[in-house]
Amino acid sequence: MSYTTERVKDFNNIKKSVSHLKVSSAQNSLAILGDSLEIIKSIPSNSISLILTDPPYHSTKKKNITGDTDFNSDKEFIDWIGSYAEEWHRILRPNGSIYMFCSSQMSSHLEVMLSQKFNILSNIVWTKPNEPGFDGWKQKMKKDSLRQWYPHSERIIFAAPAIEGNLHRSYFANFLREQRKISGLSGHQLTELTGAYGKINHGGAVSNWETGRNIPSREQYNKIIDALLNTGKIKLMPYYEDVIRAFSVNEHIEFTDIWNFPSVRSYQGKHPAEKPLEMLEHIIQSSTFNDDIVLDCFAGSGSTAIASLKLNRKTIAIELEESHFLNITKRIKYFHDQEDQFCMKESIKLQNECSLFQTA
Ligand SMILES: C[S@@+](CC[C@H](N)C(=O)[O-])C[C@H]1O[C@@H](n2cnc3c(N)ncnc32)[C@H](O)[C@@H]1O
Repeated sequence: MSYTTERVKDFNNIKKSVSHLKVSSAQNSLAILGDSLEIIKSIPSNSISLILTDPPYHSTKKKNITGDTDFNSDKEFIDWIGSYAEEWHRILRPNGSIYMFCSSQMSSHLEVMLSQKFNILSNIVWTKPNEPGFDGWKQKMKKDSLRQWYPHSERIIFAAPAIEGNLHRSYFANFLREQRKISGLSGHQLTELTGAYGKINHGGAVSNWETGRNIPSREQYNKIIDALLNTGKIKLMPYYEDVIRAFSVNEHIEFTDIWNFPSVRSYQGKHPAEKPLEMLEHIIQSSTFNDDIVLDCFAGSGSTAIASLKLNRKTIAIELEESHFLNITKRIKYFHDQEDQFCMKESIKLQNECSLFQTA
């Protein structure tokens, strides 16, 4: 059984747990209408690999975004997100991740609150480098009336479930230390067996993995498995995708914490806070494995769901407003229709090529 079979099982269990609600279900996706704070309480523990979500910002006070003007004080807003954080910690897989959008004004408060349950890994600055004429209020704004720098960025807090509230404690770090101790190998021996020497200190890699400062590559993890199983004291080791937090970037894509994705240009029916598909794909691609389950508790236009489906992930989109929910359902259906058409064209092309080959 592979890790993907487990993800299918988890996805089906989630489907069952929300079957009493208004749900639109398609292949690999589930759109749910309602208050996400209540709905996520029925999601089974440790079943979600990525929470990618964009709550109302509270500080922007936009009347066209449900929830943006609901809170009388910053504390009320932070406590509200705090109730989500409790549930997010429960439903995330221990090797999962969370990305939460917020305003630059609220970001530090939210980070402090989140750090009770999560290790904050990055505070990403999304700069929205739009061309003149497409940059919203930035040009229209009366510059000499400003009394602080014009806030032209948004923030994305990237975090992982914390173990013992310690920045460098990770699920894998604890797991590896426990398994190595059971195997009877010392840190030095495991380093020798995996060939993962630190540049400065000989036991570097293993001690960095065990303190959570670093995560092994797939090749290194395979060597760890061999070394531990060969001791005969450990019978089974989990799949890489079940213990290691997904994170993969490279020199060809943005790997810093400053992101320059242009914001979504206005079009008829655009959601007022719609995030660029490309940016959501960047997050999903770097922080999940194929078939992982991605949850968005404030789905809006449904772009997180579409980005997830494009990348062969499973997705759950929860939205409170019926009009947005219906739009998400339509977008998902359109996505599958396009895919079906593409597959049909490809299969006709293939059939034609085969018949040409047969005639020749
Ligand atoms: C900032 S927008 C998200 C936009 C989205 N990221 C996109 O790309 O389109 C927040 C969304 O959360 C929805 N919302 C507000 N409170 C909610 C709640 N309690 N449960 C579910 N959705 C909620 C709003 O209706 C709004 O569509």
